[in-house]
Amino acid sequence: MKNQLEKIKKDFFNAVTEVKDALQLEELEQRFFSRRSGELTQIMKNLKDLSGEARQEFGKLANEVKRELEEVFAKKKEEIKVSEMGDILEREKIDVTQPKLPGKERGHLHPNTLVQNDLEDLFTSMGFMALDGPELESEYYNFEALNIPADHPARDMQDTFYISAQGGSASGGKNSNSWVMRTHTSPMQARAMQKYGAPLRVVVPGRVFRNEATDARHEHTIQQLEGFVIDENINFSHLKGVLDVVAKHLYGDKIEIRLRPKFYPFVEPGVNGEVTCFLCAGKGCRVCKQSGWLEIFGAGMIHPNVLREGGIDIKKYQGFAFGFGLDRLVMLKYGIDEIRILKSGDLRFLRQF
Ligand code: PHE
Repeated sequence: MKNQLEKIKKDFFNAVTEVKDALQLEELEQRFFSRRSGELTQIMKNLKDLSGEARQEFGKLANEVKRELEEVFAKKKEEIKVSEMGDILEREKIDVTQPKLPGKERGHLHPNTLVQNDLEDLFTSMGFMALDGPELESEYYNFEALNIPADHPARDMQDTFYISAQGGSASGGKNSNSWVMRTHTSPMQARAMQKYGAPLRVVVPGRVFRNEATDARHEHTIQQLEGFVIDENINFSHLKGVLDVVAKHLYGDKIEIRLRPKFYPFVEPGVNGEVTCFLCAGKGCRVCKQSGWLEIFGAGMIHPNVLREGGIDIKKYQGFAFGFGLDRLVMLKYGIDEIRILKSGDLRFLRQF
């Protein structure tokens, strides 16, 4: 029995030096310490067959050996743990000083996204919240709530994709059972008023859709950035002030804005907004059609009918609204003269940003 113990000890020490990882460690544990078949366990079991004195003598010896082996095993276990941790750290390490790997292209943001993010930052710094709206919008929010009834000629200018739906939907607003791909981001005016009430400062970036004969300046799917403010004592100069900040933020201090009367059913008075042409600095050129100005937004004081539809007390509150064509802003910022290139997916174009 003593020999047997010696042999186990020897075998164990040989085996333990071979152990390189957690799996081998487990095999070692099974082989020697397993409750059912472990070599050491077996010996301990046999002890009970011995008689009095021998049992005491070998019992003591066996226990000593057992403790010794368990100690060595525990040490090995710790060693393996540390080295496997090291392996993981090694494998997951990121070398921040490594230069760009050849052949591996890094993704980057689209110019529209860059300008949108930039404007969201600017507006949130002025206390606006940025909201998303549905691209499939009810006719009610897209037109009716914006003071554009079914027979209004303004609908012609904003022809879009009409979707036939079965039955009405509560989220579409008043009696609405007809849906359109939204033609502008303005539907979020009434939605936000109904949801949050006044006072309110909101911007809404998003995609809009129109039935458009496309050319270098016109696309069927474009991005807009809507903005509106509702509060007490709001007047036209606040609108002009905000638009001025945006134009200078985007194009520098030399840029000026010009507002000229324009009809939109949901504002009164309404204007179209232009900025100094970036190409000729206002002298007049081909791009600005010799006028020195380029149109980039529509704006005005929110029509009382729209405020009423949004549940706002018009005796207490006024508001202004504006809508930028985001693609236009991008084109001006980077000097791009073809709108269709923006969403073409052409990498020769996209790689420049
Ligand atoms: N929604 C208008 C358009 O798409 C722009 C606009 C927004 C005009 C807000 C006035 C006020 O043409």
